[in-house]
Amino acid sequence: MNDTFLKACLGEKTDYTPVWIMRQAGRYLPEYRKIREKVDFLTLCKTPDLAAEVTILPVDILKVDAAILFSDILIPLEAMGMKLEFTGKKGPVIHNPLRNELSVGKLRSLNPAVDVPFVADAVKLLVKRLNVPLIGFSGAPFTLAAYMIEGGSSLNFVKTKTMMHRRPALFHTLMKKLTTMIISYLKAQINAGVHAVQLFDSWAGALSPRDYRDFELPYVKQIISGLGTSVPIIYFPNNCAGLLRMASESGADVISVDWRIGIADAVSILGNCTSVQGNLDPVTLLGTQETIRKEVSYILEEAVLARSHIFNLGHGILPETPVENAIALVDAVHELSSKIT
Ligand code: CP3
Repeated sequence: MNDTFLKACLGEKTDYTPVWIMRQAGRYLPEYRKIREKVDFLTLCKTPDLAAEVTILPVDILKVDAAILFSDILIPLEAMGMKLEFTGKKGPVIHNPLRNELSVGKLRSLNPAVDVPFVADAVKLLVKRLNVPLIGFSGAPFTLAAYMIEGGSSLNFVKTKTMMHRRPALFHTLMKKLTTMIISYLKAQINAGVHAVQLFDSWAGALSPRDYRDFELPYVKQIISGLGTSVPIIYFPNNCAGLLRMASESGADVISVDWRIGIADAVSILGNCTSVQGNLDPVTLLGTQETIRKEVSYILEEAVLARSHIFNLGHGILPETPVENAIALVDAVHELSSKIT
């Protein structure tokens, strides 16, 4: 197996900088869209053969150095009692959002083997078929709580933050339940064979540093220490510029940073105990291959002081992205980094 990605996660020297792309198996790929014409998104996530096929697509097409399990951060919430629907235009919708003690109290705990057996089944198929490491993942507690309380995506997280400030004990109860769920969900993926895990904290940047410290960081730390050291852990606090110093205490092996902070600044905050992942602006991939190469070389140069660097976008790849530009990105990272390292 090509273990360049895993070595970089652990801070070991590599011949080139490994690269993978958040949301690399998605709608920008015609092969993905073709499969989606026949099955809806949730069925795709819950059918191990199909999920495995989709997971492998970007490894074959882009030649990335890691695969990420095809699923969604909201999948385990169904088993907790949330009525989940993926609508084409509005994104995910939760039809019974959490409002009070009663609805939080009724949340069920997750038994991965019974509730989400398709996840471990897809992982087992994939580790047999892949020649690169497989990344498992979960949403981080605040990001999942925000979906559960808002009932979908949100601009200002008014309902979530109102619960946080008016009913802090209730909010903490929810966060504890999510923390327990996330640990068992990720352990099930690790036991099935994933080689690394990523915790997606897509909405962390909506929090003030104080709220992040009080309401999110302690749970992220519990999850990371609860998972032990059997596989590398990547933590992605999106929009992290104001939170990075605190996020660096999370205990993760790798911190994934978005493009709103320069990677050299991120590295100066992270020091050399943590590897860095990131951080090309996904919209750059809608530009020319020349600008993509230029941006890649800037990021690679800025990252030389990192313990080690895994190249990625600063957030998920956009559906509008030309596939040939994603291929050009991966080629540029491989080629340019082998000259530097
Ligand atoms: O990265 C990968 O290729 C693996 C699969 C993956 C998906 N979602 C597939 C998906 C992963 C790791 C996720 C994580 C996820 N899902 C996050 C965290 C990362 C981030 O982007 O912030 C979040 C917030 C979600 C919730 C979610 N799922 C949203 C907001 C949407 C709708 C918007 C969108 O981008 O489509 C989804 C749907 C979704 N998840 C799709 C895919 C491929 C599109 C579904 C389709 O085919 O119509």
